[in-house]
Amino acid sequence: MTVNTSHHKDYVSFFRQSSPYIHAHRGKTFVIMLGGDALTHENFTNIINDIALLSSLGVRLVLVHGARLQIDARLREKNISSHFHKGRRITDKQTIEYVKDAVGNLRALIESKLSIGLVNSPMHGARIRVISGNFVTARPYGIHNGIDYQHTGEVRKIDHQAVHHLLDSGYVVLLSCLGLSPTGEIFNLDVEDVATFTATRLGAEKLILFGRQQGIFNGHSELISRISPSEAEGCLKTMTSDNRRLLNAAIAACKGGVARSQIISFKEDGALLRELFTRNGAGTLISRDHYEEIRRAAIEDIGGILALIKPLEKKGVLRRRSRKELEREIRLFSVIVLDGMIIGCTALHPFPDGKTAELACLVVHKDYRSGQRGDRLLEHTESLALSQGIEKIFVLTTQTAHWFAERGFIEVSEQELPEEKKVTYSYKRQSKVLIKEPAREVV
Ligand code: ARG
Repeated sequence: MTVNTSHHKDYVSFFRQSSPYIHAHRGKTFVIMLGGDALTHENFTNIINDIALLSSLGVRLVLVHGARLQIDARLREKNISSHFHKGRRITDKQTIEYVKDAVGNLRALIESKLSIGLVNSPMHGARIRVISGNFVTARPYGIHNGIDYQHTGEVRKIDHQAVHHLLDSGYVVLLSCLGLSPTGEIFNLDVEDVATFTATRLGAEKLILFGRQQGIFNGHSELISRISPSEAEGCLKTMTSDNRRLLNAAIAACKGGVARSQIISFKEDGALLRELFTRNGAGTLISRDHYEEIRRAAIEDIGGILALIKPLEKKGVLRRRSRKELEREIRLFSVIVLDGMIIGCTALHPFPDGKTAELACLVVHKDYRSGQRGDRLLEHTESLALSQGIEKIFVLTTQTAHWFAERGFIEVSEQELPEEKKVTYSYKRQSKVLIKEPAREVV
């Protein structure tokens, strides 16, 4: 007997889902940005533990921290008002002292938190070695519109060789919003600027940005799970300034060659692990890569297609197809691939007349049915049909006739089927037959 409570099941399926990512992330470089607000949030301890876990899984980590909140608090305490111009702080002689003070304090906080042994756990004794140094060279931001920004600077250089060397030796590298100039001056930098510059210069795989919200939301207050850098640029105008900073950093990193930028919440316990080790993540992924794509199937996809359609064959929703049959017909299939996993497929079988085809085996994985993927597969197949000169597509279905009817298919008698198909039509299954002329406007 197999004992499998639902609790165990969740655990087992989570672990199985995460294993490809454990493998994929090992040896990769991730830059993680934590603003000052994240560092004093109660969830920060959990974040640190998850960072320690990442490091022990062999991820090469660079942490970049800011101090905006803490600088503001210090200035407020001393009744000093800070001046901003176009969203950038003007750091005068007095202010830079408080910046140094705040950053130094935070560095000590992060280093100490990373040094706490995880008592009573198998991680106890796993030592995280963290290091910081003079890796960021800055230059003055300068004078703009007659306003001298003084000690406000921008990144000029990152000593990427030194950082790589330290990562190779197993260190977690800690950078901050302070930069140094060759003349010995200290500059206050935008933490986002340091993070994107570092990620780009190091050739990091990921830039992870911790923000106040779960990720980026669209106009209907829905979380955007994945967006391309160019689509993201279109959203910038409607954002709050905090989100704009994060999204701008994510876009800049992607443009600089970082494969994936990911925005998650510093308030949510476990968001980092969920984002990194599940397929759907926890926040917003900004990437140019083929995180989810729809394409013609290839021979390597057969295993994935079989895994997808088996449950439906068992239920009798689909007719059975053998591996052999799939191998023969693989070029007729299209698939939706989500981060390497096939979550949808369909096939288009043309008939010898060259003008009719059967749309078959349209399936979307049960966990991914909410994203209109069936519609995308249908659109994709219709445009494929058009490009092949097909004028009529028909489907045979026992259970989903209404879905097709809602999409312009019209029910007809099985007598309308092409001769070849009539021969194989199974009267036992009593499938409904529906026909559609592919829509020209569909691209
Ligand atoms: N875990 C994967 C990664 O780290 C996928 C994350 C997907 N995230 C998302 N918000 N859609 O790259």
